[in-house]
Amino acid sequence: MKNFIINSPLDMHLHLRDDNMLKLVAPFTSKYFSGALIMPNLLPPITTKEALLKYKQRINDACKDDEFEPLVTIFFQVDYSYEFLKDIKDEIIAVKLYPFGVTTNSETGVSSMDVEVLRPTLESMSKLGIPVCVHGETQGFVMDREKEFLPIYESLAINFPNLKIIMEHISSKESINLLKKYDNLYATLTVHHLMLTFDDVAGGMLNPHVFCKPIVKRPEDKLALQELALNAHPKVMFGSDSAPHRKETKECNDGAAGIFSSSIAIQTLTQLFEEYGQLDNLNAFVSLNAQKIYGLKPIQKSIKLIKKDFVVPAEYTYKDECVVPLFANQTLSWSIDG
Ligand code: DOR
Ligand code: ZN
Repeated sequence: MKNFIINSPLDMHLHLRDDNMLKLVAPFTSKYFSGALIMPNLLPPITTKEALLKYKQRINDACKDDEFEPLVTIFFQVDYSYEFLKDIKDEIIAVKLYPFGVTTNSETGVSSMDVEVLRPTLESMSKLGIPVCVHGETQGFVMDREKEFLPIYESLAINFPNLKIIMEHISSKESINLLKKYDNLYATLTVHHLMLTFDDVAGGMLNPHVFCKPIVKRPEDKLALQELALNAHPKVMFGSDSAPHRKETKECNDGAAGIFSSSIAIQTLTQLFEEYGQLDNLNAFVSLNAQKIYGLKPIQKSIKLIKKDFVVPAEYTYKDECVVPLFANQTLSWSIDG
């Protein structure tokens, strides 16, 4: 196969940040994708309609003339009223729930994952048909944080049967079993959890550019996640969790968690799906499944992939911002045409 067309690609988990970083990274997605679910973990987080609409405008400005729909989210709060959620419902695609302290800018996340504490907001969301996207990790041992969170996912699934719950960036095989068990659970999968294991982070020389939350795990986890993606399991969709940090905040002590993958995501997925003879499932994984799960009608947009080497740049810069992409300096076997 020499060419491959993807229709209306969607990235259902994306961090764009703000200011010059937003201007640097947004076009990598807006040029090729029809839309993306934008995460609200700015500082301060997005919790009001006013802040949301202003941020959406800044995203649109950064995307310039690209035909692209930012599917925006607000940051979960235990005290959102039904009236507030009803008023903001048409502006958002979902609410993102971060437990306190589990990842970048989650210091204002919820301090208790007790169902009764979360109930008022989640019940309102359930009535209004607003999905919840969850960063499902505890603060336990780093390799087990997602596994330790599974009972919380399970209790949310049982207590709110009409609420769509998205298990964000699942990284372990145990999560897959739970995902399949409850009708109201769905999941996003990143490129990095499909391509890397912990050996890529620390098995040889330390690579801070592949340090993220949840941490990439064991070979068997990667294989189990690949199987879900390659078969385009209807409960999973692509969500890059592309999370840019300045180069100097990655290459230092106290390096930030997050992998910038927007510029290489679609090429890498095409390479992976081709390698396993599953290209026929790629459109479902990067668009159709998300359309069904969220009930979306994305902007019609096609991108053409061509079987041509793509040498990933060492870094990208704009004014004072500089980010290092996943697979920097490596060669991928597919390029985007145009
Ligand atoms: O590694 C991560 N970085 N995981 C997340 O969930 C958030 C992200 C970020 O915003 O930098
Ligand atoms: Zn994220």
